[in-house]
Amino acid sequence: MYLSRFLSIHALWVTVSSVMQPYPLVWGHYDLCKTQIYTEEGKVWDYMACQPESTDMTKYLKVKLDPPDITCGDPPETFCAMGNPYMCNNECDASTPELAHPPELMFDFEGRHPSTFWQSATWKEYPKPLQVNITLSWSKTIELTDNIVITFESGRPDQMILEKSLDYGRTWQPYQYYATDCLDAFHMDPKSVKDLSQHTVLEIICTEEYSTGYTTNSKIIHFEIKDRFAFFAGPRLRNMASLYGQLDTTKKLRDFFTVTDLRIRLLRPAVGEIFVDELHLARYFYAISDIKVRGRCKCNLHATVCVYDNSKLTCECEHNTTGPDCGKCKKNYQGRPWSPGSYLPIPKGTANTCIPSISSIGNCECFGHSNRCSYIDLLNTVICVSCKHNTRGQHCELCRLGYFRNASAQLDDENVCIECYCNPLGSIHDRCNGSGFCECKTGTTGPKCDECLPGNSWHYGCQPNVCDNELLHCQNGGTCHNNVRCLCPAAYTGILCEKLRCEEAGSCGSDSGQGAPPQGSPALLLLTTLLGTASPLVF
Ligand SMILES: *[C@@H]1O[C@H](CO)[C@@H](O)[C@H](O)[C@H]1NC(C)=O
Ligand SMILES: *[C@@H]1O[C@H](CO)[C@@H](O)[C@H](O)[C@H]1NC(C)=O
Ligand SMILES: *[C@@H]1O[C@H](CO)[C@@H](O)[C@H](O)[C@H]1NC(C)=O
Ligand SMILES: *[C@@H]1O[C@H](CO)[C@@H](O)[C@H](O)[C@H]1NC(C)=O
Repeated sequence: MYLSRFLSIHALWVTVSSVMQPYPLVWGHYDLCKTQIYTEEGKVWDYMACQPESTDMTKYLKVKLDPPDITCGDPPETFCAMGNPYMCNNECDASTPELAHPPELMFDFEGRHPSTFWQSATWKEYPKPLQVNITLSWSKTIELTDNIVITFESGRPDQMILEKSLDYGRTWQPYQYYATDCLDAFHMDPKSVKDLSQHTVLEIICTEEYSTGYTTNSKIIHFEIKDRFAFFAGPRLRNMASLYGQLDTTKKLRDFFTVTDLRIRLLRPAVGEIFVDELHLARYFYAISDIKVRGRCKCNLHATVCVYDNSKLTCECEHNTTGPDCGKCKKNYQGRPWSPGSYLPIPKGTANTCIPSISSIGNCECFGHSNRCSYIDLLNTVICVSCKHNTRGQHCELCRLGYFRNASAQLDDENVCIECYCNPLGSIHDRCNGSGFCECKTGTTGPKCDECLPGNSWHYGCQPNVCDNELLHCQNGGTCHNNVRCLCPAAYTGILCEKLRCEEAGSCGSDSGQGAPPQGSPALLLLTTLLGTASPLVF
């Protein structure tokens, strides 16, 4: 019941958040531990709080009685009928199934008539106290989710203590005292759970509510779990989110409802009168027909399934946790301290998934280039943040673009990455390969692309040669300037001075005669060229 309330709260939140935030839409599958969502990265699992369903816990317990031989019938004896001290010929005989009252009968199916019940021996040894301990053990932490209800077949005891253990029976603490007279029996003022509040909910009280009488109508004793929940969740437990919020933040409150064992200490049987009738001690005994304990395996909100195998309860842990209660991180998932999941959905709560250990992803996490790691939930991985020394990568194990690996430096050396220094004019981009070689444009060469291949000359980068003075590409007396253009005599034009200027203008032949003769003889031009005159010839 609590479970389904919680589910609906959670589902509602997810829907609301997908409207209010630019958050991935919930898609398809939904269960207690994870939801499939769409993100920019595609379909991924979103992990959240989870716990096994609340169930009848009496199916999984072991019961032990102290003293061990306290059950009636061995040897057989007679006892008085309930409510009629003068009808004392009822028989208890352990060797006759119909007349036996073994402890198992407290946990069998009830609802039949007459009901089956466990019964103790009678108070033959009065005034020596008749005391019985009934210990219920689960060998597993469980969380109570509903009232513990004990139904007596005899009168309800005059004095009783309900105790609990959180450490598999090593130590015990009282859970609640029950007496017809609390002050007399336990030196405590009588109280009822209704006298408590949010602030005093953990108080251990003595109650007189369940001890009066020896009548057939008052057979039941409660340990009130729901009334205590109601201090947080409201009278009809409508606001479970509020209870869960409290449980998330208050370990003491969580522990209050957690047990590994319960012990019912029967201290004095119902007498119903002021004095014990010593002539009819067969009137006095304990008999219990039913014990109800509802709860769930405690899996620290890291499992939805609890299996019963080899008479043992074990959580099927998620979120990379392990242990019977999912109480620790799996090997190689100890990247941060274990903590329980939370009841509340993100952003208030989180699954607290265990993350991979640093040691399982590299012996030196960021090689000294970053002192900060960050866990990426979606990828379930740890990355180094803000890698320094021109490094990059999940563990700062790579060089930034524009840098290359210094072969003579270790990975954790500050000088591990060397700038490429690619010539910006000669290279295609500023990146280089592992040995520092840049990618060159056409006609360009050298590790840094700052040299020209033959037939090319540097002019804002390598340009193919247009002319060259040795090969005399320039015609009609033109000279080659920096391999990129011919400087032509006045009458000539064109890239190689191959055209008459007048031709270009369309004015040849009319006035200044047939094409101006070359001024200066070819021999002179050749000489000038050979002498390597750098200054342009001006005509
Ligand atoms: C019952 O258990 C308590 C401790 O929880 C112990 O002190 C007491 O002696 C036990 N009584 C019997 C009858 O075993
Ligand atoms: C737990 O670890 C396994 C194995 O590395 C991984 O596949 C899985 O996604 C992890 N689970 C969670 C909830 O992070
Ligand atoms: C490469 O690393 C060595 C060792 O740290 C260092 O001495 C050297 O200067 C580095 N080379 C460059 C180009 O930074
Ligand atoms: C880098 O490129 C140069 C020239 O192409 C080549 O000789 C060298 O082997 C390359 N180095 C690596 C690590 O690829």
